[in-house]
Amino acid sequence: MLKRKLRFFHNSCFRLFLGLTLILVIISVLKVNQKADFLNRRHLDLTKEDPIGDVNCTKILEGDIEEIQKVKLETLSVSFKKRPKLTTSDYINMTTDCSSFTKMRKYIMEPLSSEEAEFPIAYSIVVYHKIEMLDRLLRSIYAPQNFYCIHVDKKSPESFFTAVKGIVSCFDNVFISSQLESVVYASWSRVQADINCMKDLYRRSSNWKYLINLCGMDFPIKTNREIVEKLKALKGENSLETEKMPVYKEVRWKKHYEIVDGKVKNTGIDKQLPPLSTPIFSGSAYFVVSRRFVEYVLENSKILKFIEWAKDTYSPDEYLWATIQRIPDVPGAVSSSDKYDVSDMNALARFVKWQYFEGDVSKGAPYPPCSGIHVRSVCVFGVGDLNWMLRNHHFFANKFDTDVDPFAVKCLEEYLRHKALYLQKN
Ligand SMILES: *[C@@H]1O[C@H](CO)[C@@H](O)[C@H](O)[C@H]1NC(C)=O
Ligand SMILES: *[C@@H]1O[C@H](CO)[C@@H](O)[C@H](O)[C@H]1NC(C)=O
Repeated sequence: MLKRKLRFFHNSCFRLFLGLTLILVIISVLKVNQKADFLNRRHLDLTKEDPIGDVNCTKILEGDIEEIQKVKLETLSVSFKKRPKLTTSDYINMTTDCSSFTKMRKYIMEPLSSEEAEFPIAYSIVVYHKIEMLDRLLRSIYAPQNFYCIHVDKKSPESFFTAVKGIVSCFDNVFISSQLESVVYASWSRVQADINCMKDLYRRSSNWKYLINLCGMDFPIKTNREIVEKLKALKGENSLETEKMPVYKEVRWKKHYEIVDGKVKNTGIDKQLPPLSTPIFSGSAYFVVSRRFVEYVLENSKILKFIEWAKDTYSPDEYLWATIQRIPDVPGAVSSSDKYDVSDMNALARFVKWQYFEGDVSKGAPYPPCSGIHVRSVCVFGVGDLNWMLRNHHFFANKFDTDVDPFAVKCLEEYLRHKALYLQKN
């Protein structure tokens, strides 16, 4: 009897001891984890990265006129023009050791919150040159739960292709499109490149919720976390520009076009009317669409006929998505009534400054003048564009180019990284 009692006493003591030890172990593991996470985040800070000049990004983002002027002068200096840049061979070299590459280039290799981990996004990225821009775009949108399809132009130099292959080889969730097009400006090939990636992404995973398409000159102005929050709020709707077709653009799909010497030419031959009862709408090449929209576009016979019909027209990217978004039965579509028109400024997809709309915002212009340079009437942003741009709701802005203003890209990168690491609670 006594023995039994003693044994019972020993047993319960032992259990208590075990329990306490376990709790202590768990607490210390959690502490170590927190510490590792903290150290990790410090390492991912982009402000410590290769200075390309003496610029205070805090001031730039506040719209400080003097600092913006200083940067403009700096971009004109000789030392600036001679600054070292990362080349395709640098990338081919760096990506031979993936763990050193992702560390050196400060990619974020873990989801920053469970909310983001549970809401993967798919990206279709169409590029043809400027490897460093691609790397910086990718690292600014990279998250391990997302999926990235990169369409490399068939005409791209071999070295560029090899460098992209190198980058891709360092991630399980980044890949090159299985079907590559030779992309001709304003031709169907631009749309086909996105469709190729759409197919690959759709087959690759059934987990992603939304698809966003990008080109090499886009840059995010929102963190992954902010994008996820807004996508959730869309509740299955799509967000893209879709407006009444201006009469002067109708020729683009009323005539039959052909590619002659690498340019899209009007043959003067009339085309049949589109195989749709919905009118043709005007928009942009860029969209934010749900997985169900993608599924419908890839499988619905009416859409497939429309796609087939659109292949010999001028700049189909600027009406195809805008029109599909107005067809009844398309998941997440809106009515074709003009009351449902969505302008580029109201869509989430892309912020772009068109030269002929720039002006005095206080007098009704949609945006202030470009602080960078214009290419085909589109602003290639300078540091002076950031302050106003960041107050907008768009996910991405176009165009950025490190050859025009690397400080704009740098300050934007730093801003986003800081926000993602320190200003958003998990
Ligand atoms: C940059 O500017 C901000 C705001 O004016 C200032 O607080 C900060 O100290 C400056 N940073 C450096 C490194 O000069
Ligand atoms: C990469 O570049 C470094 C520094 O220039 C060099 O030492 C190294 O051998 C190169 N590695 C490869 C795989 O080419």
